[in-house]
Amino acid sequence: MMLSRPAISPSALAVAAALVVLAFLSRCDAEIRRTEIRSDNRRIIPLDDFGFTHRGQLELNASRIVFDPKPSPSSEPLSNIGFFLCTRDAWFNVLKQLQDSDITCALQSQYIKLVYTLEKLGSNEDRFATVFSQDDANQYTLVFANCLSQQFRVSMDIDSAMYNLDGKSGTRDYLSAGKTVLPRIYFVFSLIYFVLSVVWVNVLYKKRVTVFKIHFFMLAVVLLKGLNLLCEAEDKSYIKRTGSAHGWDILFYIFSFLKGIILFTLIVLIGTGWSFLKPYLQDKEKKVLMIVIPLQVIANIAQIVIDETSPYGHDWATWKQLFLLVDVVCCCAVLFPIVWSIKNLREAARTDGKAAVNLMKLTLFRHYYIVVICYIYFTRVVVYALETITSYRYAWTSVVAAELATLAFYAFTGYKFRPEVHNPYFALDDEEEEAAAEALKLEDEFEL
Ligand SMILES: *[C@@H]1O[C@H](CO)[C@@H](O)[C@H](O)[C@H]1NC(C)=O
Repeated sequence: MMLSRPAISPSALAVAAALVVLAFLSRCDAEIRRTEIRSDNRRIIPLDDFGFTHRGQLELNASRIVFDPKPSPSSEPLSNIGFFLCTRDAWFNVLKQLQDSDITCALQSQYIKLVYTLEKLGSNEDRFATVFSQDDANQYTLVFANCLSQQFRVSMDIDSAMYNLDGKSGTRDYLSAGKTVLPRIYFVFSLIYFVLSVVWVNVLYKKRVTVFKIHFFMLAVVLLKGLNLLCEAEDKSYIKRTGSAHGWDILFYIFSFLKGIILFTLIVLIGTGWSFLKPYLQDKEKKVLMIVIPLQVIANIAQIVIDETSPYGHDWATWKQLFLLVDVVCCCAVLFPIVWSIKNLREAARTDGKAAVNLMKLTLFRHYYIVVICYIYFTRVVVYALETITSYRYAWTSVVAAELATLAFYAFTGYKFRPEVHNPYFALDDEEEEAAAEALKLEDEFEL
């Protein structure tokens, strides 16, 4: 393949880099979290979010609790330091109470659910383990509050697990209330992609005379997407059962990395008419791909950090923004070659009859270009908005929306560029093309 030769070494490097990072990060647990606080005097430290049903439970263990300096219980009561659960709405009330000086510490508010205060800690103990049952269904944030005076710093290791008990069997479900259906959703979508692959293989077999290399490329994208979803389903279902990611997450990240690169490459290839209109990519387009591939590596690393750490962890927001930024840059970058191609061919068409034929076809690609933009806009902006505005109970809807949009995009691409003799998107074979060029020249001469 002409394209892949220059792209091999950077992408191989990228895969290697991604694997190293994966080996590092995959040790983190997913829904059972460990948070380490070191010499911290923040008054409020949010730890994690979770959507509880009516039978929710929080397991909270803290160990190696150390104060610096040690507070004397008479002047600094340890009841002013502890853990609580709080919904977002309740938090506004607490803030108001604090502002109005009704209370001096968030732990005193009646709007929160007190889980544990360090007052209960024995004088020589530096650890505790507690289980808290939560029967008001809602999305809660687990928060650590330290209302001692500023000079008291605290260090400790916190292990927290939040889960809901299943209706009848009472088994634990470590996925948040709105996300507990995700394994099934991912599984159904992966099945759809496998069915699509079979359909596509069938089409390729039937139309083998008019098949281009790019059609096999498309098959690879669909297969990778299916595998990616299958791993995500398995990963999520493992987390649902045990609270931690296992090894499926590594496969998932590998497949999403490959899929990301191949999808963007495919968009560039199709969008510029490679293998339909011309047998090779131009330098500019190769350069764009060279930029997109490392960016995809960054995007995947960011995605891993986002998935595996708590939303309140260090730099989580930075990674999230980085991911969105890189993703949008990738999306925009792949649009440039399409625009260049249309522009170049338009210029060439003024002088060359054969290019005029190509131009006619390439303008057909404009539809595709618009669809690509819509797809990118929808999956990046609309889905992100949906994620933020929907209630925690419907957290799965944004996933379904994104997957449906992706499915529609894949189906559209497959349909538009299917191997067919009369498909206007394809270049005619050389003879026909020459004939068409001749015809155009003749027309020109007649006009003259
Ligand atoms: C908390 O400690 C208990 C008993 O020591 C243990 O069974 C449980 O798994 C621990 N939970 C977490 C989240 O570490």
